[in-house]
Amino acid sequence: MKIKVFTTVSDLRKQLDSDQAAELKIGFVPTMGALHAGHFSLVQKALEENDRVVCSIFVNPTQFNDPKDLQVYPRMPEQDIELLEKTGCHYVFLPSVNEMYPEGATSGTYDLGLMAETMEGEFRPGHFMGVATVVDHLFNLVKPDAAYFGEKDFQQLAVIQRMAQLRSHTLRIIGCPTLRENDGLAMSSRNLLLKPDERKAAPLIFQGLQKAKAFIPHHTVNAVKDLVIRYIEQSPLLTVQYLEFVDPFTLQPINAWIPEQKVQACIAVLTSGPRLIDNIGFTVELGSVASPARA
Ligand code: PAJ
Repeated sequence: MKIKVFTTVSDLRKQLDSDQAAELKIGFVPTMGALHAGHFSLVQKALEENDRVVCSIFVNPTQFNDPKDLQVYPRMPEQDIELLEKTGCHYVFLPSVNEMYPEGATSGTYDLGLMAETMEGEFRPGHFMGVATVVDHLFNLVKPDAAYFGEKDFQQLAVIQRMAQLRSHTLRIIGCPTLRENDGLAMSSRNLLLKPDERKAAPLIFQGLQKAKAFIPHHTVNAVKDLVIRYIEQSPLLTVQYLEFVDPFTLQPINAWIPEQKVQACIAVLTSGPRLIDNIGFTVELGSVASPARA
């Protein structure tokens, strides 16, 4: 089936009204384009679980706290549509800023609690209000049965779950695993903006996160942080903006290792160009906790 491209809400709704009247299940994958295999893995999952899949491509201005980032964000809609069609995705929604925000591109207000203040929330003020606003709006427009998000943006997934609860969206929100390049770098549209030597250095980020687990048996939380940061910053091209070990459910920072505890290690790294984020989850193993004397 040829993919159908919609640029207006009314055309998209006409299609979806008819699908939903026929009781077809709608899966939804919101994106900002410059699509890569990470995005396509979400489309694939949505295709497995639904009768029709909508992918939106919209570079949402309200979530960019840095105007330069918005300006240079990669845009390649024709290539995206061509690749999406190959996946079997049924519909692509490519609205203009005016179509999405007829009354002006501003964010709503959501009680995101700690999420709006830590890690991405702290370093990208207003970012999550913008994400919550656009995804809330898209959920209202598409009315999907299920929506698919990557764990690559772990904190974003938590924000969207919270927004959905606050706004009484009843759809299923599905988190999908992070896809990586062969050298471990998490796939991201922003990787296209890395200079060649930065691209070469960038796998240190995932390697550093993996090392955290190996460092735990002998070191406190702060000592592990220092070691991981030092490992990544062995490249002068990478600067760690934050590294936090948090509870994956509450996002509360973890200050001491507890055996069997689930941990999400979340990181943001600055380069001369794009800012890169990544995270991994792991469980603190029994007996692998530093004694206070060695802390
Ligand atoms: P974007 O960065 O284009 O990502 C779209 C979706 O793809 C998000 O759910 C993201 O987590 C997921 N994704 C990105 N890289 C991935 C990877 N390597 N593996 C698996 N999934 C990956 O995230 C956004 O757009 C926007 O904030 C959006 C939710 C669309 C709101 O504007």
